Amino acid sequence: TPRVFSGIKPSGGLQLGNYLGAIKRFVGMQGEMETVYCVVDLHAITVWQDPAELASATREVAAGYLAAGLDPTKSILFNQSQVSAHAELGWIFNCVARVGWMNRMTQFKDKAGANAEKVSLGLYAYPSLMAADILLYHATHVPVGEDQKQHVELTRDIAAKFNHDYKQDFFPITEPVTEGPATRIMNLRDGTKKMSKSGESDMERINMTDKAEVIAKKFKKAKTDPEPLPETVEGLAGRPEARNLVDIYAALNDTTPEAVIAEYAGAGWGRFKPALADLAVAKLSPIADEMARLMDDPAEIDRVLADGSARAREIANPILQKTYDIVGLLRS
Ligand code: TYM
Repeated sequence: TPRVFSGIKPSGGLQLGNYLGAIKRFVGMQGEMETVYCVVDLHAITVWQDPAELASATREVAAGYLAAGLDPTKSILFNQSQVSAHAELGWIFNCVARVGWMNRMTQFKDKAGANAEKVSLGLYAYPSLMAADILLYHATHVPVGEDQKQHVELTRDIAAKFNHDYKQDFFPITEPVTEGPATRIMNLRDGTKKMSKSGESDMERINMTDKAEVIAKKFKKAKTDPEPLPETVEGLAGRPEARNLVDIYAALNDTTPEAVIAEYAGAGWGRFKPALADLAVAKLSPIADEMARLMDDPAEIDRVLADGSARAREIANPILQKTYDIVGLLRS
């Protein structure tokens, strides 16, 4: 049976890329398939997190999912550390995955940079924990942004090696789902870098908790080239900032870049940017307001997470037990 799994790290707040590339698409898959969504707190601590901030960021990511329309009666929403099977299967996959595979992970190379000797061992092993997240639910579909595609491909390799080594057909070969205009939202000050929560300047990104005036200001100040919008989408080639703003508009408005260009062909930035700012405020402000309301009453968020964790364990624990049996770990 098809099942969707995906996760978001609570390392700092949510930014527009997380919303358009992940949460909005997750919510869209509800009801079509069984959907399991996670706040991956064990992934967050691969780099240092202040304990009080980690707890608050975990609630904030949960609030973001709920405010964007995740319905806890249709989806399972939980935080990873509360389902201990993730860490347990992660260990087994550490013994399946090869060091050479990890060495090829571009995100690790980017994050570790010249400092690879000093980063945590967890940061290096992270993709095998991510494989455990996915395979613990026998998930068949994993919606992610472009930057996570390589990790989902590694998940397929781990599943295939496990199945081969133990002569089983146990773990499914998962599909990454990366489609639509928003799978790689770029930085507003440099269209060649992706938008992220850790970029140096706050003007580079839209935070999901930004106030309406701040959102409007960031779009109005976003970097562009001097040319007007082209007559066709092909005309966006080689214009990363223009392409990004058109993609953001399309994703926010549930349409395609082609449709946006059809409407704004030849328009100058003086016309397009205010329209984009208005659209963004209209779509994002209600979410920010609802997030603030939820954060005011953490008890409600905590209840949703506790209920989700219990439901997640019901799926995950039998799969972990079966894995133990396959591997020959004696259950006494
Ligand atoms: P994370 O927390 O960095 O990002 C969460 C999701 O947001 C997407 N995303 C973006 N999409 C488009 N444009 C952007 N600029 C942008 N920035 C972030 C990411 O692609 C991701 O889908 N390792 C994962 C979390 C994870 C996971 C999993 C995902 C752990 N276990 C299992 C799927 C399945 C991560 O660090 O995502």
